[in-house]
Amino acid sequence: MTTFKDQIDKSKLPKHIAIIMDGNGRWAKKQGKLRTFGHNNGVGSVRETTEAAAELGIEYLTLYAFSTENWNRPKYEVDALMRLLVKTINKETKTLNKNNIRLQAIGNLQSLPKDCYKELHEAMKNTENNSRMTLVLALSYSSKWEITEAVKELVKNVKSGKLKAEDINEQTINSHLCTAKMPDPELLIRTSGEYRISNFLLWQIAYSELYFTDKLWPEFRKEDFYEAIVSYQQRERRFGKTSEQLKGK
Ligand code: FPP
Repeated sequence: MTTFKDQIDKSKLPKHIAIIMDGNGRWAKKQGKLRTFGHNNGVGSVRETTEAAAELGIEYLTLYAFSTENWNRPKYEVDALMRLLVKTINKETKTLNKNNIRLQAIGNLQSLPKDCYKELHEAMKNTENNSRMTLVLALSYSSKWEITEAVKELVKNVKSGKLKAEDINEQTINSHLCTAKMPDPELLIRTSGEYRISNFLLWQIAYSELYFTDKLWPEFRKEDFYEAIVSYQQRERRFGKTSEQLKGK
């Protein structure tokens, strides 16, 4: 039996894959368990996906772990998610180092609880020289927040004379986003059968291929990740051009 992994063309891998991990709550509910049980089990899928991405040679893997809007969830769930993050980051730093993986984060990190921020900061510092893959956690992140912050910074620079308004172009805006130093994701995956972007990397996914799967996040395994990559590789990315132009006709 040929697996999805066998079908992957290693010469055409996306450099950056972003994932909206969704469905933890529903997965837990289906078993009559608390939503937090789903988040705990979601960590296993984070581990599997990170391992699969690093083994393949993906350069950047970005995971939407906590959105700005997630702060509105019941306090017990927010607290549990923060505790889980602290625990997981602490526990996994060694494995990240062993596998030469650098940890980074995007979002309003100052808004995280102190212990969470501290743990994250330490793990980022501890792994900063790793070069095989960068694992990016989007935490207290939303795209509209990120773009608003970029606009504020640009206006400040124009006001102080550091930048001319007429010189602002796509690159200037790019360089003011949290993702300034990263390539845009070529592939965005969302689990749990929802067809939404939910305020995630709106600028950066302008030309990304979107892949949706019904699998709930705690069920998502390496083969599901490989399947998404195979689907990506079967698509023709035209960037506004015609198919004939791409084929050099
Ligand atoms: C979405 O499921 C998931 C989250 C909001 C949190 C994701 C967190 C983890 C997988 C665990 C920790 C992660 C890391 C990186 C250590 P949902 O709760 O929205 O599910 P639902 O749509 O079924 O309610």
